[in-house]
Amino acid sequence: METRLAQEVASVDITTFDFEEHGDERGILIALEENRNIPFDIRRCYFMYNTQPGISRGFHAHKTLQQVLICVRGSCSILLDNGTEKAVVPLDRPNKGLYISASIWRVMQDFSDDAVLMVLADQLYDEADYIRNYDDFLAWIGKKRK
Ligand code: TYD
Repeated sequence: METRLAQEVASVDITTFDFEEHGDERGILIALEENRNIPFDIRRCYFMYNTQPGISRGFHAHKTLQQVLICVRGSCSILLDNGTEKAVVPLDRPNKGLYISASIWRVMQDFSDDAVLMVLADQLYDEADYIRNYDDFLAWIGKKRK
């Protein structure tokens, strides 16, 4: 018989932002500012595009890194996994941001042909901050694979 304590089921905390669109007859502009509409110091920005059909990326967690993901063109979806629960968040408009805290396993998937996924991060690139093995991730967050 499966006994599962309620406190063991931690639903994934999803934080998204609707960025203010400065629109006029010329079009739309969105401004991103550290510690204003982005909840940390922005130390790095990178983006991915020309993602090949059927490709998923990521498959890692971070020990300390915080990020905000914005699909500035096209669409994709982000699978978030806290070690207990999973959630999939669509990113399908350039005024939507998804905050990802440390210690969340993430997969970037379902890229449209034209997708440009931009990531803002609060630290410089540091391979030592990555957890690239799922079992290591579960150990990191103190869970045991069932
Ligand atoms: P990788 O971690 O495989 O990307 P993803 O998380 O999308 O699967 O990174 C691809 C390559 O880019 C790898 O050689 C590391 C390099 N890279 C940097 O040099 N700087 C960065 O900020 C990032 C995110 C990756």
